[in-house]
Amino acid sequence: MRPVLVTRRLADEAMELLARHADVVVPLEDRPIPRDTLLDLAGGVHGILAMLTDRIDEEVLAAAGPQLVVVANHAVGYDNVDIEACERRGVVVTNTPDVLTEATADLAWGLLLAAARRIVEGDRLVRRREPWEWAPAFMLGREVAGSTLGIVGYGRIGQAVARRAAGFRMQVLVHTRTPAPGVRRADLATLLAESDAISIHVPLTPQTRGMFGAEALDAMKPTAILVNTSRGGVVDEAALAEALATGRIAAAGLDVYEREPEPHPALLELENVVLAPHLGSATVETRRAMAMLAARNLVAALSGEPPPTPVGPR
Ligand code: DGY
Repeated sequence: MRPVLVTRRLADEAMELLARHADVVVPLEDRPIPRDTLLDLAGGVHGILAMLTDRIDEEVLAAAGPQLVVVANHAVGYDNVDIEACERRGVVVTNTPDVLTEATADLAWGLLLAAARRIVEGDRLVRRREPWEWAPAFMLGREVAGSTLGIVGYGRIGQAVARRAAGFRMQVLVHTRTPAPGVRRADLATLLAESDAISIHVPLTPQTRGMFGAEALDAMKPTAILVNTSRGGVVDEAALAEALATGRIAAAGLDVYEREPEPHPALLELENVVLAPHLGSATVETRRAMAMLAARNLVAALSGEPPPTPVGPR
């Protein structure tokens, strides 16, 4: 059987599926694969099942060699893969859409509610054993129900976030390049000016990198909340920390960072930002489904069949 590299051990079911079709190479240690190990273990493989933390670029493709058929990314986002380099070499790229949509939308909502209602800040206060008592003006947050939610990027996850907003009787504004039947589309300036909360669901591309910098943050309401579960590079963290510290926006909830796993140090000093460690798809059910889909993609491409979820042109 042909060798394939799985850069990090997955659920048994997925490993077994892969092992029925290929000789599976897995690094011994359960941690992000070091670059030199990736380059070393990629040599001669026909498929790479990669994590979002692995940069799959020209160097890795060259180290693998011309027999490489497929890069199966274990994520819906694939900014870690050099798509053009793969195309040039005729390497198929796949990702894991759909299976993580609901989990990620839930997390975006969790961050929105936590930031709006100061839940994590309150938890810290209670744990510090600080004296507190109920009072009419104690730890007031912002009302979510009935407010306006701006969704930037209206793919599967953005739409799942919008579905949840119906339960909160929210007005939904959507900024998207593609048609979005049944919702109010808005240009970015309108969305920034009118939204009480904004949830980001665009992929990281040269066009979206730094999209939420000082200018965009300045254009938001001072009472608004920003949530990012997409990719860290879409938000300029230094500008966000400044906006949060100076009250130019009210609060934020982040699951992703410009330089993961390190958030900008200024964010760590602030009470009005909730920081999660890239948990968007982190449920038992979703991670199992992602592993299986990534494995099926790899096996299909290896067998010369169309993989279930190839990466299409943006
Ligand atoms: C993805 O799949 O792109 C998510 O960020 C994983 O949590």
